[in-house]
Amino acid sequence: MEKINKGNKMKIREKLLTVLGPQGGEEEIQALREVIESGWWGKGPKVAEFEEKFAEMVGHKYALAVTSASHGQDFVMKAMGFKDIDVINPAISFIATAVIPLWNGFTSNIVDVKQDTLCIDPEDVERYKRPNSELLIAVNEAGVPCDYKGLRKVFGGFILEDAAHSCYTPGAGLGGDCAVWSFQAVKTLPVGDGGMITTDDKNLVDKCRDMSWFGVSSTWSRMQGAKGKRHYSWDYEVDILGYKNYMIDIIATIGLEQMKKLPKHLEFRRHIQDRYNKELHPVFERPPHSETVQYYCLRLPIRKGIGRNNLIDYLADKKIHTSVHFKPLYKYEFLSQNREYPVSEKEWVKLISLPCHNRMVEGDIDYVVHWTNKFIEENYDGNRSRTLI
Ligand SMILES: Cc1ncc(COP(=O)(O)O)c(C=O)c1O
Repeated sequence: MEKINKGNKMKIREKLLTVLGPQGGEEEIQALREVIESGWWGKGPKVAEFEEKFAEMVGHKYALAVTSASHGQDFVMKAMGFKDIDVINPAISFIATAVIPLWNGFTSNIVDVKQDTLCIDPEDVERYKRPNSELLIAVNEAGVPCDYKGLRKVFGGFILEDAAHSCYTPGAGLGGDCAVWSFQAVKTLPVGDGGMITTDDKNLVDKCRDMSWFGVSSTWSRMQGAKGKRHYSWDYEVDILGYKNYMIDIIATIGLEQMKKLPKHLEFRRHIQDRYNKELHPVFERPPHSETVQYYCLRLPIRKGIGRNNLIDYLADKKIHTSVHFKPLYKYEFLSQNREYPVSEKEWVKLISLPCHNRMVEGDIDYVVHWTNKFIEENYDGNRSRTLI
């Protein structure tokens, strides 16, 4: 974190300002120390506490902590017992959402997004759903909620709410039939790598829990006295084909500390969003409001062949790291689909994500605003902006 001088002669930073990044400190270090000294590092009381507190925050009855959102999505697909299905997912998303169906031998049916939110478009779902489309993955892009009412009107199957960017938007997670959250290193509640499944369906969460450690009940739960016995039970049955993707206490303890900081962290992310919205040049199309601001995704219209790719290079020269969330999934050869995507095609070329995270200070925001606007002043003129929502 560096303080940068304001003014016309802004000095170029020495250290790269990253587009995303986790922020932790003494609290996480102290909590980790306690877990390490406790002698219980694996899945235990910290995971149970994290699951309980997370379920309560979301408003679901059950939560299961796993190693990543990707594995959480995979477990849900397996636990639902789907066979040979088609999975509908949005064109603008991280690669995971379209690839996980393929792990299970399903087809990935990529549909177009809405122009304003870049979330899955119910009208396109209606147009392109297939007789065996039984699962839909709804991604709350950059933390902006999907149109769940619209989706329910056109789709009667299971909706998995991909809430990887929504931790935590009030009401998020409750739009689908279950939700999967990501705590990967640059998410709003980072733990390094981790995820959570939340649902009101006990059967679903029990099946996912069984799968998360080869169908073996956890050592911690057997330590609490199993099946009428007063003492630890070493024995367990295994009657399903399971995997090994449960969260451990070392990770959960970071999650618990990050959860305490979440309101403050989100407040600062929204502050960055507000400042960018107010201070950036009007030529930029502002993103729709996000409560989490997982990504601050501006849109820069292309004028006379100049656009966001030029801005990305320009900002890189000024030590500002940017990104694009996301390149449409049908652009990857192995996911290509035999159809057109008018909205994604038009919008994705304009997308650029600016630095937005809790390692930043006000001076970093000044710095990004300065150089981003300077690029526009040097390359664009006479353009006026519009706010998308
Ligand atoms: C929309 C979306 N879904 C799923 C994932 C996968 O999350 P994880 O890295 O926890 O597996 C990501 C990760 O960035 C994502 O952006």
